[in-house]
Amino acid sequence: MRTIDWRNDRIVLIDQTLLPGTVKVIHVDTVDELIDSIKRLAVRGAPALGVAGALGVALAAKNGDDVREAAEKISKARPTAVNLSWGVGKVLAELDQGAEAMIEEAKHILEDDIRRNADLGRRGAQWLIDRLGPRINVHTHCNAGALACVEWGTALGVVRALQERGAIGHVYLDETRPLLQGARLTAWELQQMGIDHTVVVDSAGPTVLARGLVDAVIVGADRIAANGDVVNKIGTYPLALAAHRAGIPFLVAAPESTIDPDTPDGSQVEIEIRDAAEILGEHTPDGSKALNYAFDVTPADLVTAIVTDERIINGKPLG
Ligand code: MRU
Repeated sequence: MRTIDWRNDRIVLIDQTLLPGTVKVIHVDTVDELIDSIKRLAVRGAPALGVAGALGVALAAKNGDDVREAAEKISKARPTAVNLSWGVGKVLAELDQGAEAMIEEAKHILEDDIRRNADLGRRGAQWLIDRLGPRINVHTHCNAGALACVEWGTALGVVRALQERGAIGHVYLDETRPLLQGARLTAWELQQMGIDHTVVVDSAGPTVLARGLVDAVIVGADRIAANGDVVNKIGTYPLALAAHRAGIPFLVAAPESTIDPDTPDGSQVEIEIRDAAEILGEHTPDGSKALNYAFDVTPADLVTAIVTDERIINGKPLG
């Protein structure tokens, strides 16, 4: 089923906090319920957040809420993925046309997400095959799969497209501390796809690359600044450094909606800092502090290419 959808005038989504053990669908009837789902990562991943933002504004209009106020609140639920405010803005632009038009626009964004990700996946697969040959081992981080979108995926969409061509070898993936989007979600998706995969701890990722176990790194993005700096899940930057040192391609797969031309470079992006309780626990002494950065910035010069639903960007200014 789809990660997020609009059915019978309400939002339905898979609660990703319970995966892989339990597949539970939640029905979201109010904007506050949606904001809660976004904050606790029941719905997550940049493209899925874009769709959630769009559907949330449509829901506010359908419920007769103050739509501008609701849009503002939804946009602020998480700060880093630009897709969230992008989706909100797209549907808010239809405000004068009324609730039905806003629902139609949100449904269009939802359907478009599937097509765009399939396009970028196939483009990325072709780019890799042209450079690396007919069988490719890859490393990925976090979850940039169907669960991070409506269907298909971005980085895992490239893997899916490689599989369609019989070109996928082995996939290594970081567990992705502290919420384990890799070990829980990406491993689950790869298992369903029937792709051989191996989970490593985040700090082992650079060693996987240094030992020559993979031919390329493929990750998604939460925001790409105008200069090509890539903001993605914490732990992406060390992989980019290691890929550079190992001399293998570091490919970023993201829809055009993840590109933020209004942000000049990565230093200007607000990096979400999540609750210390996600890191601290019985294993840490009482009184220890934690700094829980959820994302990092990979400088543009470490990115070999960015593949989108419209183009491949090779280390040039994005314009
Ligand atoms: O905190 P999350 O799980 O929302 O972070 C997700 C990521 O960092 C993904 O890599 C990114 O959103 C791209 S998803 C196609």
